[in-house]
Amino acid sequence: MSFLAAGAEGGAATPAWAMLAYLVAGIFFILALRGLSSPATSRTGNRFGMAGMAIAVITTLVTHSIANIAEIGIAIFIGAIIGVTMARRIAMTSMPELVAGFHSLVGLAAVLVGWAAYLNPGAFGLLTDGGAIGPVSKIEMGLGIAIGAITFSGSVIAFLKLSGKMSGSPIMLPGRHIINLGTLAAILVLTAMFAHTPGADANLPFIVALTIAAFIIGFLLIIPIGGADMPVVVSMLNSYSGWAAAAMGFTLGNSAMIITGALVGSSGAILSYIMCKAMNRSFISVIAGGFGADSSGGGNGEVREQRPYKQGSAADAAFMLEQAEKVIVIPGYGMAVAQAQHALREMTDVLEEKGVEVKFAIHPVAGRMPGHMNVLLAEANVSYDKVFELEDINSEFAQADVAFIIGANDVVNPAAKTDKSSPIYGMPVFDVDKAKQVFFIKRSMGGVGYAGVDNDVFYMDQTMMLLSDAKKMVEEIVKAMD
Ligand code: TAP
Repeated sequence: MSFLAAGAEGGAATPAWAMLAYLVAGIFFILALRGLSSPATSRTGNRFGMAGMAIAVITTLVTHSIANIAEIGIAIFIGAIIGVTMARRIAMTSMPELVAGFHSLVGLAAVLVGWAAYLNPGAFGLLTDGGAIGPVSKIEMGLGIAIGAITFSGSVIAFLKLSGKMSGSPIMLPGRHIINLGTLAAILVLTAMFAHTPGADANLPFIVALTIAAFIIGFLLIIPIGGADMPVVVSMLNSYSGWAAAAMGFTLGNSAMIITGALVGSSGAILSYIMCKAMNRSFISVIAGGFGADSSGGGNGEVREQRPYKQGSAADAAFMLEQAEKVIVIPGYGMAVAQAQHALREMTDVLEEKGVEVKFAIHPVAGRMPGHMNVLLAEANVSYDKVFELEDINSEFAQADVAFIIGANDVVNPAAKTDKSSPIYGMPVFDVDKAKQVFFIKRSMGGVGYAGVDNDVFYMDQTMMLLSDAKKMVEEIVKAMD
């Protein structure tokens, strides 16, 4: 919305009070990011973000005369209805694809604003004394359109892959690195030619070509990325969408958009870096794609070697949990699928009443989006002081009587430490093998984790497989403890 509103920049200098309001909005956005960095303060962070956006949008609307307030009001109303409905209906497990879908809209908005500014530069205050768009404005416009188009087509592919409407496996074109680098170089050359060529008739072919090339490269960059790298892609596209907005902020002379875009761009880049670190993958190798193409696990439909394992019941688990002094729960994607967090909280309450210490161990990429497990546990009112990050709790498994794995898989897979040929090799994982007893809840021995690889923890002496839907199993354990 703010794109459209800001798009009506009339060329007049922004009044001092509006600059101040934009600055205040920027400070609110920084406070929002600060708040969102911890589950305990995330709600306050969200409120700061909403207040900052309200200030930015209202200031833009008040200071611009060309935009039709009624039309903008209707657009905001329709957008709000769609946004609220989607946010209410979306399952937590589908959140990453929703985020990818929203990023695609940010990218498309940047492309549309860039094109609107090109076609109607007078309304955007972009005409120089000579009656044409200046070269610097054209560079900003070209880059904004290119980044926006890459964000759009890349996010559409990420959405299709994450929602299962397109295969998640990497699609590797021969010579893709050369094609990609060539297309990126072509976009830069076309932007330079667009900026350098005076006259709308003469420079039109360049802006058309660079827009098409950017749509294509967004598609080409994301199709080879598969498997467990998709979260990094979503966060990377988030970063791109921020830079697209910042570039458009320069074109429109709107400082709120520049500040917001830069904040989104840099926080997305930092998050991508943190996730790469959590998976022990280099950013370049993620961008280059191909991860998971040769994974040897059952995810590819291959038959895995049959190995002996122990299977237990809810009653077995209940008995041993009650005897334990210290239990560490490792939740993963399966807990989200089963919506087992409330039953898990109940189990924790019962164990604590019996004097058992219970802690939760959260891997940075557990689930399908950053903070996925924290959100679910918070929803079930699990106190924040019982929830620990990997580096803070990993050393405690040696003193734990029970490691209770519920719907997690890749994040406890020791192949990440020992098997150089594994697609998750190098990812830091929980040392569950050090616990005296391991319970592993999953639905069947056939299912594998996101990376599609077998897990030696299933077959360890101290492991008892609890094969069932996570919610059902935990409810039965609670019943057995009563
Ligand atoms: P995964 O490795 O994906 O394992 C999920 C486990 O849950 C599987 O063992 C599955 O086995 C089980 N499961 C599924 N539905 C279940 C249900 N209803 N009841 C009980 N169990 C169920 O999960 P993880 O350990 O959380 O690892 C996350 C993986 O996803 C990592 O590879 C990570 O890189 C990747 N990833 C992470 C993110 C972010 S940012 N968090 C985003 C995308 C991808 P069954 O099918 O046999 O039940």
